[in-house]
Amino acid sequence: MAVRLGDEAPNFSAETTEGTIDFHTWKADSWAVLFSHPKDFTPVCTTELGTVAKLKPEFDKRGVKVIGLSVDPVESHRDWEKDIADVTGNAVNFPMIADPDRKVADLYDMIHPNANDTLTVRSVFVIGPDNKVKLTLTYPASTGRNFDELLRVIDSLQLTAAYSVATPADWRDGDDVIIALSVSDDEAKERFPKGFTAQKPYLRVTPQPNKG
Ligand code: BEZ
Repeated sequence: MAVRLGDEAPNFSAETTEGTIDFHTWKADSWAVLFSHPKDFTPVCTTELGTVAKLKPEFDKRGVKVIGLSVDPVESHRDWEKDIADVTGNAVNFPMIADPDRKVADLYDMIHPNANDTLTVRSVFVIGPDNKVKLTLTYPASTGRNFDELLRVIDSLQLTAAYSVATPADWRDGDDVIIALSVSDDEAKERFPKGFTAQKPYLRVTPQPNKG
């Protein structure tokens, strides 16, 4: 069964490069990113893991725990991590799940048999403090993900969880935001004291509420 937005992120226990974890216990009440890789010792995956290791301080700043997965055993992950540090200059600094029996991959529907019947696709799940799935992404093996985009989306998810706003196309942290349709104009005047511009009755723009 596919894991969809708003579903509770399924719990599991698994061996990782940082020991055996119970996922919900490991995650606790943080935000989390769970992302899968088709296979160890593959080129695109090597670049992706190095990039996430480099960006780890950005995930930390946002209170987001990061955990990777591939269907190889933990000893293989550890050997591969030496290559990742060697090639990218970034030591992997987050746990990698070993999933040789595909237990977690099946639970999260990370194997798409019409793409490949044994390897995971490049799945991403962003999970909120309430353990609900807030975002899913699915990329094919041939396309490495853009992790700056993932950070951008997390900024939007965290902002819109705290305020009755939505973020427009290509929004970046600090840009103006859109007032939710559920908020009346009178309420908007109270909730957004910096004011708003109604470009259309349904498109009201206000400065990002949690900035200067
Ligand atoms: C890669 O990471 O480069 C890759 C992984 C699986 C299949 C094809 C490419």
